[in-house]
Amino acid sequence: MELYFAPLEGVTDFTFRMIHRKHYGGPDRYYIPFLTPTQTHVLAPKERREVLPAHNLDTHAVPQLLTKSSEDFNWAAQVLKDLGYGMVNLNLGCPSGTVVPKGKGSGFLADPDRLDVFLEEVFTAGVLPVSVKTRLGLRDPEEFDEILEIYAKYPLAELIIHPRTREEMYQGPLHPEYYEKAVTALSCPVCYNGDIRTADQIRALADRQTPPAAVMIGRGLIADPGLALRWLGKKPAAETFGAFCDELSLAYLERFGSQKNTLMRMKHLWSYWLEDHPQGEKLWKKMRKCNDWPTFYAMGRQILAEGDWHP
Ligand SMILES: Cc1cc2nc3c(=O)[nH]c(=O)nc-3n(C[C@H](O)[C@H](O)[C@H](O)COP(=O)(O)O)c2cc1C
Repeated sequence: MELYFAPLEGVTDFTFRMIHRKHYGGPDRYYIPFLTPTQTHVLAPKERREVLPAHNLDTHAVPQLLTKSSEDFNWAAQVLKDLGYGMVNLNLGCPSGTVVPKGKGSGFLADPDRLDVFLEEVFTAGVLPVSVKTRLGLRDPEEFDEILEIYAKYPLAELIIHPRTREEMYQGPLHPEYYEKAVTALSCPVCYNGDIRTADQIRALADRQTPPAAVMIGRGLIADPGLALRWLGKKPAAETFGAFCDELSLAYLERFGSQKNTLMRMKHLWSYWLEDHPQGEKLWKKMRKCNDWPTFYAMGRQILAEGDWHP
């Protein structure tokens, strides 16, 4: 069973991926948060930076596209192929209110006929092997039956399933029975994604009689950057987290050229990191209120100096 780092837009950018790979590693692949190709057929500078081979060394990165236009998809797939990528992922899961009304991400699942035509055009062009990351539908998990019939018509490189509907966003119970349905219906590898937080959970999936081809982990790997290593039976050194955190901070300061933007990015990460701290709630309240980068950085160092805690 392989393990993938999920794409998290605004979190797992190239800086995070490279520095995570350097200090921890563990995931077999790192998925790149979505690029949105447009009719202009020009990658935005921010998107180009994300996919530059030099920014993805050794991460076995898989780029992801968010679009409902097969023409734009095929164009972007060719750009990615020219950069050396061997696979591209289609985002059919994004639940965002700015994406779904445009019929993209999980919004595309509302129109199975159109999705069918899109996939036909993408697989006929055959620019690169294509994997799909999907939800079950918009409102009702049963919508997935019809969607699955469409996936079964095409030679997907892999199907990654987050077994929730768009309405369920990222909370509430998952519907793993639809993952099982997909395994039965499809001949391609099927990857399970959703709410995996501990090495025991990963082990339980790997130990099944028929384990998933892969598991994809997002928030669990942010909250515990050593989770994949732990599953592999390795223990990250005590000083690893401090070094990881310092290198991230310096890299963002340099890249953003702004203490304010660095503070925002590191705050987001600390909100995950403090989840399992014994005084996490109290500490997070203080850190959340802090609007000054040097003070915020010192707070983080103080937390690490005070005990043998790390995420
Ligand atoms: C802040 C945030 C950003 C995300 N960005 C993306 C994205 O760019 N592409 C994508 O396919 N999924 C995205 N997701 C979904 C995650 O990849 C993943 O499917 C989701 O978090 C569930 O997995 P988890 O429970 O292991 O976190 C995002 C989720 C969050 C919370």
